[in-house]
Amino acid sequence: MKRLIIIASSVLIMTGCNQDTAETLKSDFLTQADLVVEGKETLQTNQLEDNETDMNEEEQENNPTDESSERNEPEDNAIIVEDPHALDVVVNKVRRLPKGFVPKNLVEPQVPFNASEGNPKRLLREEAANALEELFAAAKEEGFDLVAQSGYRSIERQIELYNWYVENYGQDWVDQYSAVPGHSEHHTGLTMDITSDVVAMELVEAFGETEPGQWVEEHAHEYGFVIRYPKGKSDITGYSYEPWHLRYFGVETATDIYESGVTVEEYYGFVE
Ligand code: DAL
Ligand code: ZN
Repeated sequence: MKRLIIIASSVLIMTGCNQDTAETLKSDFLTQADLVVEGKETLQTNQLEDNETDMNEEEQENNPTDESSERNEPEDNAIIVEDPHALDVVVNKVRRLPKGFVPKNLVEPQVPFNASEGNPKRLLREEAANALEELFAAAKEEGFDLVAQSGYRSIERQIELYNWYVENYGQDWVDQYSAVPGHSEHHTGLTMDITSDVVAMELVEAFGETEPGQWVEEHAHEYGFVIRYPKGKSDITGYSYEPWHLRYFGVETATDIYESGVTVEEYYGFVE
């Protein structure tokens, strides 16, 4: 753990502050790096400048196939999902979205954000955006101020991030915490990473033990969301515990998954 903190700090120093790309990668990188850095030594993502330069919403609507992404996406032998717009689409390490996929109906939920205005990471599919607003309002009634941090992410953006993580952290680390481009649920527009000031607006495992984190775990399904990467299930999901990563499936399916107490992979019969 300490080693990762030191590496993260060194990377910050080495990347410098003059290049927009480095700043942008640094910001997103730390968002994910924080998940393994807890307590006093946690790096402050919210102090970093956010220079995200992905396509805006209008450009996405006019450009349903992201051709630059399609050109650069790595080849793999994964199953390509049949209906990438289905609310119950399952993407994981062996199931991916079609090349250049961009979801329809991306809108910005009216919730507090820890991301700059106009940043595509504030977007979600309309159904998920409405549900997130309801979830946040219900949390607020219980006295919990949830904050949205990272929703839609283009495949092109994941290519940049993923390559940067590999270069700076190595493949073993990346395999636990970041999806191969084309395989991230963030591409679907149905996923939002959330946080709270109780964990200093960071994406850390400790969020799951806080009051708001516990409330989210117990109630997210009532609004259609599932904690996609539960604790102790990384051998099935392929990723470490992420109490902040909420995936929208709709109330009926999310409730069924929650009450079954199984992972999405088990629920859909993708594991024995
Ligand atoms: N952190 C999750 C696995 C992603 O990169 O989509
Ligand atoms: Zn996430």
